[in-house]
Amino acid sequence: MRKKIVAGNWKMNKTLQEGLELAKELDAALAGKAINCDVVIGTPFIHLASVASAIDTTKIGVASQNCADKVSGAYTGEISASMVASTGAKYVILGHSERRAYYGETTAILKEKTELVLANGLTPIFCIGEVLEEREAGIQNQIVKNQIEESLFGLSAEDFGKIVLAYEPVWAIGTGKTATAAQAQEIHEYIRSVVAGKYGKEVADNCSILYGGSCNGANAKELFANPDVDGGLIGGAALTVAAFMPIIEAWG
Ligand code: 13P
Repeated sequence: MRKKIVAGNWKMNKTLQEGLELAKELDAALAGKAINCDVVIGTPFIHLASVASAIDTTKIGVASQNCADKVSGAYTGEISASMVASTGAKYVILGHSERRAYYGETTAILKEKTELVLANGLTPIFCIGEVLEEREAGIQNQIVKNQIEESLFGLSAEDFGKIVLAYEPVWAIGTGKTATAAQAQEIHEYIRSVVAGKYGKEVADNCSILYGGSCNGANAKELFANPDVDGGLIGGAALTVAAFMPIIEAWG
C-alpha cells in the first residue's frame, strides 16, 4: 500500500531561529497524536542539521529543497546529496518548478540529481507540472510525461520504487488558484498510468503522488479523497503550525 504524505516546502522563508521554532512547534503539536500520514518538512539547507536534531525524525522527516548535480569537488556554493544525508535529512525535493524556471534546471540535470539522491539513501520528492499556457493548450499530460520520462525512466524498477512524485501545476502555486479535485484526480491517474506503462502496475500502485499548489486546510480533504492523490506538497500553508496541521489532519 502506498504511503500517504503531507510535505511542507518552506522555500526561502524563515531564519534559522524561526525555522527551529516552527519545527519544534510542529513536533510538539504531533507528539502523542495518532497521525494517518507521513509528515515531511522541507527546510533551507542551513536549517537541516539543527532541525533534524531538534525534532523526532521518526515522526517528521526532514527534506532539503534541492541538491547539487555533482558528487563533490570544486563547485563553489553547492550542497551535495551526501552532505544533505549527513545532516539527518531523509528526503530531497527535486525539480520544483521554481528551480526549473529560475535556476535553469533541465530534465538532464534533474536526472543526475535524482541518481545522486538515491545513491545517498535519500528519498527524492520529484516535482512535475505544467505552466498555464500548456494547460490552456491541453498538453499538460504530454508535459508531465516528458518530465518523468526524461529524468526518471533511466532508473531501475527498484530505484523508481523509492521515488515520491509531486504534481504541481505551476498556475496553482502561490496563486490561491487550486486545481479542482477532479483536475487533480484526472492527471494523477494519468501519471500513474505512465508509470505503469514503464514499470508495471505494482510499481505504479505503490508510487505516492502528491498534489501541490495552493493546497490548504480548507481544500485538502477534498483533494486527498481522490483515489490517486496520496497527499500534498505544501508551500504557504506549511509556514505555520496552525495552517499546516489541518492539512495533516485531513487524512483523518
Ligand atoms: P503553495 O502551497 O504556496 O501554492 O506552494 C506550493 C508549492 O510550490 C510547494 O512546493
